[in-house]
Amino acid sequence: MFVSLCFLLLNIFYFSVATSNKNPRVVLAEKDVPIQRYSLTGNNSRIELLQGPHDNSVFVGGQGRLWYIDFNRPDQSKEMNFPVLERKTSNSKPTDPRNYEFDVTTLHRVNDTFLFVCGTNGNVPKCCYLSTKMLDMKCSEDFKALGIAPLNVTEQAPSLYLDDDVYAAVNIDVKDNSVAMRRIGQKAVISSDIDKKEQRYVSMAFSGPREARLQDRVYTFRVQKGFDEHPEGSSWTTWVTQVCTADMGGSKMLLQKTWTSRLSARLSCGIRDRKLFFEQLLDVSVLPGANWRESRVYGLFKNSWGMTAVCVYTMADIDHVFKTSDFKEFQGTVPNPRPGECVEDSRTLPPIVLKHIKEYPDMKDRVWPVKGSDPLMVSHDNYRHIRVDRVKGGGHGRRHYNVLLLSLESGSIHKVLEHAGEPFIIAELQPFKNSTYIQNILLQPSTKKLYVSSSSEVVEVDLKGCQRYGQQCEDCIQARDPYCSWNGTHCTTTTESRKAIQDVEHGNYSVCKQGEGQ
Ligand SMILES: *[C@@H]1O[C@H](CO)[C@@H](O)[C@H](O)[C@H]1NC(C)=O
Ligand SMILES: *[C@@H]1O[C@H](CO)[C@@H](O)[C@H](O)[C@H]1NC(C)=O
Ligand SMILES: *[C@@H]1O[C@H](CO)[C@@H](O)[C@H](O)[C@H]1NC(C)=O
Ligand SMILES: *[C@@H]1O[C@H](CO)[C@@H](O)[C@H](O)[C@H]1NC(C)=O
Ligand SMILES: *[C@@H]1O[C@H](CO)[C@@H](O)[C@H](O)[C@H]1NC(C)=O
Ligand SMILES: *[C@@H]1O[C@H](CO)[C@@H](O)[C@H](O)[C@H]1NC(C)=O
Repeated sequence: MFVSLCFLLLNIFYFSVATSNKNPRVVLAEKDVPIQRYSLTGNNSRIELLQGPHDNSVFVGGQGRLWYIDFNRPDQSKEMNFPVLERKTSNSKPTDPRNYEFDVTTLHRVNDTFLFVCGTNGNVPKCCYLSTKMLDMKCSEDFKALGIAPLNVTEQAPSLYLDDDVYAAVNIDVKDNSVAMRRIGQKAVISSDIDKKEQRYVSMAFSGPREARLQDRVYTFRVQKGFDEHPEGSSWTTWVTQVCTADMGGSKMLLQKTWTSRLSARLSCGIRDRKLFFEQLLDVSVLPGANWRESRVYGLFKNSWGMTAVCVYTMADIDHVFKTSDFKEFQGTVPNPRPGECVEDSRTLPPIVLKHIKEYPDMKDRVWPVKGSDPLMVSHDNYRHIRVDRVKGGGHGRRHYNVLLLSLESGSIHKVLEHAGEPFIIAELQPFKNSTYIQNILLQPSTKKLYVSSSSEVVEVDLKGCQRYGQQCEDCIQARDPYCSWNGTHCTTTTESRKAIQDVEHGNYSVCKQGEGQ
């Protein structure tokens, strides 16, 4: 009793310490942030965002519509309506008109002139190639949208467009929970066995380009019900699955037109010493590194106590588990080539390898965060989306910093400095006039703009907006915002200039005096 009370007190102490610095240093309301806004027609229950061809431009998919928004040249912005392409000829009366909409669920860039767009199209999903000028639309009849585009606008359905192939993980039947992961396009059509476990796909990422392109992989992140090893945790678990982009499916006898390189591993996020785990993945953002190995996967998780956490993994660490771990529940000699290795023609793989992939697709080892570390951040805030930017700071050293952009359910964004030890919440940005649900966010790293969408508005937030930190050097330095520095007269966007004064690490404004002395 005494021990558990002490433990409880320790817990409370720990969290009061761990969260003491976790309020944003400043709150910047809508009028304080450099913002441009664009109103959307309709009541969009899902928003897809895609970077446009020009700086500060985006494509936005919503309910029955696609918008091109050019925030630099508003007169170039336009909107198009999707015709309802095919009506489900069921005998049910069209009581709910929403059932006949082309709600955009998938939006990718193909090349300079074409987009790839899918929508619910009633209950008969459809995918089309659409010219970026939004004039010309080719919806090929034989394109198997089923398995690429979700049937229901509410369903998360991550996908990737890679070398003229589409990789997607969606429900293929509204009635039951049969999720499959597919590839459709130039290469052979490949699918996973239909999986009836209760699961949801969250995100997809390209793991490449690797030194040998044959070894390129696609990682899919999903949550799955069950497998609960932590009674205090939720009943969800998070998994990462690999497939080779070179996969051609198995032989005529085994796994024909089915992935032969599909392996899964648990993705862990938690404070191991304290047995505090975050089991349910909410969102993923990949920060590209100098090469694929160094690319970092930021996972936003939650637990059943309403806490959230951010854990960071490297592509190399994920790859290592797939290449070296024992296979779960398998004792014996691992066949050669090792199951999950990418090969020139998977249709010629020995039956023993195909059989192994079919029977033992799970790894024994888990993927742990970078260097076995604890979460980067633990919070009581209801974060929903994560994006990560890399910013070159000013002042001495001018090193790079990673900045997390986390959306809150209330409609705000937290701008967070990734920092050894404690992350620092630089600011809370409130881009909307009223509290609202954030549907989606998109980062344009080249221009340092963040696009935030509610169901009725898309706003462009300039992450380099520095004026509002104050008129004094001290205010600017204390902000610890790597996008900003003091140029001698103003708090302004960090430039290459040697005169830029800043101390992102400590926010110690004694650098202001040193600056004057120079
Ligand atoms: C928009 O849709 C949501 C959810 O479907 C609904 O709760 C809300 O009342 C709708 N708003 C308007 C203005 O139609
Ligand atoms: C762009 O992609 C579309 C659709 O696949 C194709 O028809 C077109 O030829 C491509 N254009 C270029 C310039 O590659
Ligand atoms: C879509 O899913 C939601 C929630 O699961 C459900 O309420 C709705 O009826 C579904 N819509 C259609 C058209 O199936
Ligand atoms: C914000 O809320 C107020 C009061 O509820 C309302 O009058 C106003 O129209 C809303 N503004 C927007 C932009 O939705
Ligand atoms: C500092 O930045 C402000 C605002 O961007 C600019 O007007 C001013 O000329 C800059 N001062 C110097 C010394 O570069
Ligand atoms: C700030 O920097 C000055 C000069 O380097 C140092 O003397 C001082 O202790 C620092 N203050 C804090 C709070 O770290």
